[in-house]
Amino acid sequence: MTWLITGGAGYIGAHVVRAMTGAGERTVVYDDLSTGVAARVPDAVPLVRGSTLDGELLARTLAGHEVTGVVHLAAKKQVGESVERPLHYYRENVEGLRVLLDAVTAAGVPSFVFSSSAAVYGAPDVDVVTEDTPCVPISPYGETKLAGEWLVRATGRATGLSTAALRYFNVAGAARPELADTGVFNLVPMIFERLTEGAAPRVFGDDYPTPDGTCVRDYIHVVDLAEAHVAAARALRSTPGHALTLNIGRGKGVSVREMIDRVAAVTGHDRPPTITARRPGDPARVVASADRAATLLAWKATHDLQDMITSAWEGWLRLHPEAARR
Ligand code: WQD
Repeated sequence: MTWLITGGAGYIGAHVVRAMTGAGERTVVYDDLSTGVAARVPDAVPLVRGSTLDGELLARTLAGHEVTGVVHLAAKKQVGESVERPLHYYRENVEGLRVLLDAVTAAGVPSFVFSSSAAVYGAPDVDVVTEDTPCVPISPYGETKLAGEWLVRATGRATGLSTAALRYFNVAGAARPELADTGVFNLVPMIFERLTEGAAPRVFGDDYPTPDGTCVRDYIHVVDLAEAHVAAARALRSTPGHALTLNIGRGKGVSVREMIDRVAAVTGHDRPPTITARRPGDPARVVASADRAATLLAWKATHDLQDMITSAWEGWLRLHPEAARR
């Protein structure tokens, strides 16, 4: 069986490629290298450079590599950018997916794992988010992920394609320093950046209805997330006709303040944070119920916050050696 990993040169995709090959699966990476990096793809894994909007190249790739399953991660993923460029996000994330599904069904590929997001829930007013919590996205990014789930599920119903939508919560960490996230768009790298500049980390609001007043999220190690893809891929292969929708989180809430304290302990850069205004659109608390993935995939996260911060910091130091000097 050969799995096509779209977006396999990206931060999460490169971890998925390693988890899949580590589990004995053959993989091919398909990536337009707009944000992906070719060096992240292992030498033994073929890399096809192309867009998910290019149906002809997709068809040739699926046939040429005898692909029997797809893990689709190639997408735009910045919430703020999606507000400014909604048409771009719909084109890349929804139209790109439609073209890919067209090629996948025409080629008779039986299994499809879709990279979705907790962003489909928007600002859920519940302590723990289950897969049945209503999806009310609050950004174009979240909308494209929800529309993507609909496309994937409808295609499965119509054609028998076996599908899984994995709703990622807040991803952090790295398997190795060179695979670390190079973007500075999320809390952990944003704290690192401030500390490296000799500035105080920022807390976007401390007047939320949470125990310490700061927002609570469910952080998951990228290695655990990658393993969830292996488990999903195997579940699809063993049971045709699946239509799984699964939260991929740890089920543990961590506040912004707690994260800043833990980062200080790991990095030795200890600066009291600055409290700034709330960031528009931030929900107070988004924490997964990870029960369904545990039951249906026998998958559970094994890495803790310490692993996430330590491995992310090692990756940061590789790119910013000056951060080690204090
Ligand atoms: C986490 C918390 C911030 C930086 C986003 C997407 C989501 C998913 C993951 C892709 C928030 C606070 C941050 C800082 C802070 N992406 N913060 N100071 O917004 O939970 O989720 O990324 O699928 O869809 O929405 O993640 O890391 O940006 O923020 O106080 O310097 O940290 O306000 O409460 P978020 P984040």
